[in-house]
Amino acid sequence: MAAKTACVILAAGQGKRMRSGKVKVLHPVCGEPMVAYPVSLAISKGYAPVVVVVGSQSEAVRDYLKDRFGDKVRFVKQEPPLGTGHAVMQARSALKGHKGKVAILYGDVPLLGRSDLAALEKAGRKAPVSFLTCRMENPAGYGRVLRDEDGRVESIVEHRDASKAERRIDEINTGIYLVDGPFLFSALAKLGRSNAQGEFYLTDVVARARQQGLDVLGIEVDRQSVLGVNDRLELAQVGRIMNRRLVDALMRGGVSVLDPDHTYLGPFVRVGSDSELGPGCMLRGDVRIGKGCVVGPGVMLKDCTIGKGSHVLAYSIIESSIVGKQCQVGPFARLRPGTRLGNQVKVGNFVETKKTTLGDGSKASHLSYLGDAEVGKDVNVGAGTITCNYDGFSKFTTHIGDGAFIGSDSQLVAPVSVGKNAYVGAGTTVTMDVPDGSLAISRAKQRHILGYATRMNKVAKKFSAKKKT
Ligand code: UD1
Ligand code: MG
Repeated sequence: MAAKTACVILAAGQGKRMRSGKVKVLHPVCGEPMVAYPVSLAISKGYAPVVVVVGSQSEAVRDYLKDRFGDKVRFVKQEPPLGTGHAVMQARSALKGHKGKVAILYGDVPLLGRSDLAALEKAGRKAPVSFLTCRMENPAGYGRVLRDEDGRVESIVEHRDASKAERRIDEINTGIYLVDGPFLFSALAKLGRSNAQGEFYLTDVVARARQQGLDVLGIEVDRQSVLGVNDRLELAQVGRIMNRRLVDALMRGGVSVLDPDHTYLGPFVRVGSDSELGPGCMLRGDVRIGKGCVVGPGVMLKDCTIGKGSHVLAYSIIESSIVGKQCQVGPFARLRPGTRLGNQVKVGNFVETKKTTLGDGSKASHLSYLGDAEVGKDVNVGAGTITCNYDGFSKFTTHIGDGAFIGSDSQLVAPVSVGKNAYVGAGTTVTMDVPDGSLAISRAKQRHILGYATRMNKVAKKFSAKKKT
C-alpha cells in the first residue's frame, strides 16, 4: 500500500495588505476563518498528518483550529517568516520519517476544491513534483512558470527576479504542490536566499528537481479555485463565490432557497430536504436544520439545531440553542444561548429566552423574557411574562411545572417555582413558591371611585377654556 499523503498548510504570512490587527487567515469567509477551508479539505481527503505553519498571533490560529478540528491538526511555528521554503522547512520535524507525498496548500486560498486536488494527485502518480498553475491576464507579482520548447516545466521564477521577457509569461504558479516527502526535505535543506527578496523560495525546489533529472508537472486549473486573499476586496470576492457554492449545494440537496444571492451560509450548515430558506437569512457555525422546515426572511441562526417540520419565522435570531420538532418560533423572537425547546413548542413575537427549557407543547406566544427558566410541558406563558432572574449580583432559576398557566403581565421573581397545573393570575408578582394546582394572585383588589372621571373631565374643560381667553 502506498504511504499516506501528508499536508503542510502555510499560514505564517503577515497579510499586511489586509490592514488589520487580526492575522489574515482568521478573517472570515462565510463566517468561518479562511484557514478552516484548506484544513477541512485536507482532513476530508484523508491527508495525515495535517501540519499548519503559523506565525505571529499563532495562539489565536491554534485555538481556533484546535477547537474546530481537535487533534487532527498539528502546528509548527515559523518566526520570523523568511519565505515559503523556510515555512515548509519548519514542518520537517513534524513529518520525520514520512515517506509518502506531501501536499502543500495555502491558508489564504479557501476556494481550492476536491477536483483540484484530484488533478494534482493524478499528476503526482507520474512525477515526484507536481503543482497547480493557472493563466492570469495580469500576472504581475506572481511566480511565472518557465517551460522548454516541449512544454516541460523547467523552473518557476518570481516576478521580482524575472526578466522582461519572463514577465510576459501569463502562466503563474498557484503555490499548491504535491511533492515526494524525502526529496522535498532534501531539496529544502539546500535552498539559498540569494534572490531579490532575500527569502527561501519554495519554488526553487522545482528547478532543483529538474537538475536532478526528476520530472515536474505543472497542471493548469481554473483561476477561480486558486484565488488567494490578500486584501479586503479579494476577501469579499472570495466570500461571494464561496457563498454561492454553498447555496447551490443546498439547492442540489433538495432545499428551496428563495433568493440565492441574498442567503448567507457557512460551510458547516446542514439543511434537510424540502426545507425552505427565505431571503436575507444568515446561517453560521454548526447549524443543523431538519427536513421540511421553514426559515423565514432575515432569520439569523448560529450554532443551533432545528428539528423536523419546525418554522422559524421572519427576523428571529437563534444562537447556541436546540429547537425540537414542529415548533414555531417568531416572527421577531430571540433565542439566546442555552435555550432548549421540546416538540410542538411555540415561542412567538418579541419573546426572548436565555438558558431556558420549554417542554413539549408549551407556549410563550407574545412579549416575554424567560431567562434561567425550566418550563415543563403544556405550559401557557401569558403575554408580557417576565422571569426576574437577576438580583444585581447573581442569577436564579424559575421552575414552572407541567400544565401550569401563567397569566399575562406576571413577574416571577427567582428563585421561585410554580407547581404543576397551577394558575398565576394576570398581573401577579410571584415571590413565593406556588403549590401544585393552586391559584396565585398578588395584585391589589380592584375598587371603584364613582363619578371621579366625570368630575375630572369637567375640570379639564374649564381649564382649557380659560387658556384660550
Ligand atoms: C508565492 C510563490 C509564487 C506564487 C504565489 C501564489 C514563492 C517564493 N512564491 O508568492 O510563485 O505565484 O505564492 O500566490 O513561494 N507564507 C508563510 N511564511 C513565509 C511566507 C509566506 O507561511 O515566510 C505563506 C503565506 O501566509 C501565504 C503563502 O505562504 O499563505 C504564500 O505567501 P505570499 O507571500 O502570499 O506569496 P509569495 O511569496 O508572494
Ligand atoms: Mg511573499
